[in-house]
Amino acid sequence: KSLSETYDSMFKIGVALNRWQVRGENSQAESLIRKHFNSITPENEMKWARIHPEPDEYNFEAADQFVTFGENRDMFIVGHTLVWHSQIPDWTFLDENGDELDSKALLKRMKDHIDTVVGRYKGRVDAWDVVNEAATWSDGLRQSKWLEIIGEEYLGKAFQYAHEADPDAELYYNDYNLWAPDKRETVVKMVKRLKENNVPIHGVGMQGHYGLESPSLKQIEESIKAFSELGVKVMITELDVSVLPSRDDVNVSYNPDERQGAEADVPEALNPYTEGLPDSVQQQLKNRYVELFELFKKHQDKIGRVTFWGLHDGGSWLNNFPIPGRTNYPLLFNREYQPKAAFHGVLEAAGN
Ligand code: G3I
Repeated sequence: KSLSETYDSMFKIGVALNRWQVRGENSQAESLIRKHFNSITPENEMKWARIHPEPDEYNFEAADQFVTFGENRDMFIVGHTLVWHSQIPDWTFLDENGDELDSKALLKRMKDHIDTVVGRYKGRVDAWDVVNEAATWSDGLRQSKWLEIIGEEYLGKAFQYAHEADPDAELYYNDYNLWAPDKRETVVKMVKRLKENNVPIHGVGMQGHYGLESPSLKQIEESIKAFSELGVKVMITELDVSVLPSRDDVNVSYNPDERQGAEADVPEALNPYTEGLPDSVQQQLKNRYVELFELFKKHQDKIGRVTFWGLHDGGSWLNNFPIPGRTNYPLLFNREYQPKAAFHGVLEAAGN
């Protein structure tokens, strides 16, 4: 059974593609993507550092392949991401003498970037994560160069420029830990202010980088409701469930920055499943996905799309974050591209 067909009447089911999948170099991956997903997001290929590495140099090759991949398979194509503090070259904020740009000059640079990127894919990319991760964990906006130089106004401008470049594209704000009450509140206020100023914002993407036990369903649910009440669509983006302990969970001191060479082993307490995922944890992961999808199903009137941050365990960023060199199992397909218990759990949660 296909995931996207199973959820067809509720919301789209998306997946993030990595560089190799974008190039269509792996037929196993390709057939799974085609069968189970009706939306794609590029994991890295449209980020500023990749697509606009030098002031006068754009590199569209991978992004073009990504968009063509989606078009050929009739998928809902999401661009990720236009304005972010990370994966952005230092020159973005400097003039040719190496001095920091003023607000006007930085806004112009931002507009040029958005015009060029969104403009190139006008009518082809269906939606954009316009601003990514502009809020902080606690109350307030992230002290990024964007905020420091332009002020809060940069948020609305980014959406406005994207809208001018493609008036038909859906435009989103995307961030992590939006289940946390403080951060939820910050983003609720931000979206309210944007809407009061008639800024074209159509959705909030709640990144779903979750653990087996936290956050609670109640916290996630509160946020889905709070954003939906503002009159925007809610997207569950970047979904994955880490099964590994955090540094705080276990009593070992290990600093990856101090390890001797890349081959140094991560202590077993921090990397317990190198030989495979035990059945009991496999089952726990399944149960977690079931409860998450039952929640999403309950709020299907508010949710437009659920996108997984990767296709299979072997390709997940969680093998390298926050501790590099671990073996994680956060997704629905295993390293051999076979469906896991969690995959069947997601199908079961649809209840049809
Ligand atoms: O491609 C190079 C390779 O040539 C080089 O040898 C290697 C050495 O470090 O790096 C490779 O690039 C890495 C890239 O992933 C591709 O694997 C970058 O270092 C690494 O920083 C990059 O990480 C990405 C991360 O964003 C960057 O911040 C992850 O793949 C990607 O999953 C992650 O995605 C973000 C979302 O965009 C926003 N929300 C959070 C999410 C997770 O961090």
